[in-house]
Amino acid sequence: MSEHLSSSAAPASTTKRRILVTSALPYANGSIHLGHLLEHIQTDIWARFQRLRGHECYSVCADDAHGTPVMLKAQELGITPEEMVEQTRAEHHQDLQDFYVNYDNYYVTHSPENKALCETIYHRLDEAGYISKRTINQLYDPQKQMFLPDRFVKGTCPSCSAEDQNGDSCDVCGATYSPTELKNPRSVVSGATPVLKESEHFFFDLPQFEGMLKTWIRSGALQDEMANKLQEWFEDGLQQWDISRDAPYFGFEIPGAPNKFFYVWVDAPVGYMASFKNFCDKNDVDYDSFWEKDTDTELYHFIGKDITYFHCLFWPAMLEGAGYRKPTGVNIHGFVTVNGAKMSKSRGTFIKGRTFLDHLDPEYLRYYFASKLGDNVTDIDLNFADFAQKVNSDLVGKVVNIASRCASFITKRFDGKLSDNVLEPELLAQFHGASETIANFYESRKYHQAVREIMSLADKANQFIDTNAPWVTIKDESKQQFTHDVCSLGINMFRILVTYLQPVLPVLAEKTEAFLNDTLSWEGAQATLTGHAINKFKPMMQRVEMEKIDAMVDASKENLAATSTPKISAESPLAKDPVSDTISFDDFAKVDLRIARIANAEHVEGADKLLRLELDLGGETRQVFAGIKSAYAPETLIGKHTVMVANLAPRKMRFGLSEGMVLAAGPGGKDLYILEPHEGAKPGMRVK
Ligand code: 2FM
Ligand code: ZN
Repeated sequence: MSEHLSSSAAPASTTKRRILVTSALPYANGSIHLGHLLEHIQTDIWARFQRLRGHECYSVCADDAHGTPVMLKAQELGITPEEMVEQTRAEHHQDLQDFYVNYDNYYVTHSPENKALCETIYHRLDEAGYISKRTINQLYDPQKQMFLPDRFVKGTCPSCSAEDQNGDSCDVCGATYSPTELKNPRSVVSGATPVLKESEHFFFDLPQFEGMLKTWIRSGALQDEMANKLQEWFEDGLQQWDISRDAPYFGFEIPGAPNKFFYVWVDAPVGYMASFKNFCDKNDVDYDSFWEKDTDTELYHFIGKDITYFHCLFWPAMLEGAGYRKPTGVNIHGFVTVNGAKMSKSRGTFIKGRTFLDHLDPEYLRYYFASKLGDNVTDIDLNFADFAQKVNSDLVGKVVNIASRCASFITKRFDGKLSDNVLEPELLAQFHGASETIANFYESRKYHQAVREIMSLADKANQFIDTNAPWVTIKDESKQQFTHDVCSLGINMFRILVTYLQPVLPVLAEKTEAFLNDTLSWEGAQATLTGHAINKFKPMMQRVEMEKIDAMVDASKENLAATSTPKISAESPLAKDPVSDTISFDDFAKVDLRIARIANAEHVEGADKLLRLELDLGGETRQVFAGIKSAYAPETLIGKHTVMVANLAPRKMRFGLSEGMVLAAGPGGKDLYILEPHEGAKPGMRVK
């Protein structure tokens, strides 16, 4: 019988959609890291999925070139901002491509298209009466002779008095404020105390759009939890938006206003349009049909939750005011944490894309993120042990294993051709039948559910192979046809699984196409290969090795060591337990450390770790239970001086009240050393 494809169910007929998707534009003054990659991978999976379904889907991105940080960084490097931005753009684009994130265009906001579009939008907003001017007082660095953006002023939070907070918001209490409200402000650029200086600024009349925005956020464009969040912002009242910045500034000058520039957040989202314009002009795609009002094309922005305000208030209002369409959806995701904590440079968990690529296969990360991404804004934790386990067990152990268990018999014993028979049509029907469920999960960005569905099919395929054990039946002359049928069904199931995984794992899909002599497509997953010649199976994916992860973390630590701290030897306690985040002097001063004389020390009945100490502070005596029994016999301590935290809130323990704490160093057990001051220190003296 000759080779043929048989199709068991026709795919639901869908009209061809025209879709444009974007990811947030990375700033041109830093490297792509895991936080960026979550979003770019999320977007890329969605765009690939749409194309695989036969829709016309474009994805664009760009570097976000403008603003003070980029300008200052270029100054620091002694190059022009244009040079720096072009270098960074190329580097970012390469990093993303190496993660198989394929944009149709990866452009830059410092472009002629973006300048022209910003001017058009500005003129339209101005003509419609949405722009006004007003003189404001702003903090100015008298030394550097520049106005200071919020992030370049630090000081004490006006709300909770936390030290060293940014000029626009407090990391401790979450308050937002204007930098002029900060207490004890200082310029991050020069250290000078900023002064207030007057300047005329341009404002965009956001409050005019309140009604439209309230409708839009409930139109299905946003996740419910984010729409609720925005509701709170409306309750606080919308404000006029300051859209200009004074020279020196790297950006686009406002037409007719010398030395006044568009604030970077004005031209950044316009950069989505500009990148697409640049693409359309070169590829004969109708740009206007994607941006005109009342279009039936779809526009989706993928962003992190920190930039919701810009994308869900300012941006739709600007579009509306200038006569354009609004986004069909803004898809918001959470942050990346690593091993349960915020990414940290000192722990080596602030991992750059390039460092990941130096050690690990990018498809591992694509798969892991996909297996965790839902349609909500929950943070995504990259736990290394879980990461290795999941990739090894799901991809290597389940999916690829199906092919490797079946392929060699086909090649060696059945002339490299799949059987003409379909052994268990009901089983295969389950694989075909999962198509729309999985498609719906991708469509609604519930990638974790798509992955779970695919893996449960993979389990079924492996159970089928286990039950029929072709490695046993191959030895039985009478069971050759059966063995051929089992292995062929295995290969067909593998083909469908990889098709469903193709948006996530494009390279595995390419290797599978080469192996199967076939082109994978979503519709094609409904077909079954019979009598079809396949190629020799080559290993498709390596297991994740923990050592490689360790090496990547080490290399990420070195990135920091090379730039700001001396290299730490592996034996140093610092290597395992890095210095904590910086605190202010005031924070330190809250801890009241005192010299204490150990007036008495004794065992505590029933406690295996504690000694009871009586500490003489030169006037008062405190009882402290200290976990040092493993290292000290009590009698050796009596009469010695040590250091205690005297103002620690007393703690009720099973054995009595502990009224403070003695300080000791070391990992524990016998390896524990309490502090002892030099001779001359007297009980009650403050340690500072
Ligand atoms: O937050 C950021 O990293 C910005 N560079 C994102 C800009 S997205 C868009 F508006 F351009
Ligand atoms: Zn605060």
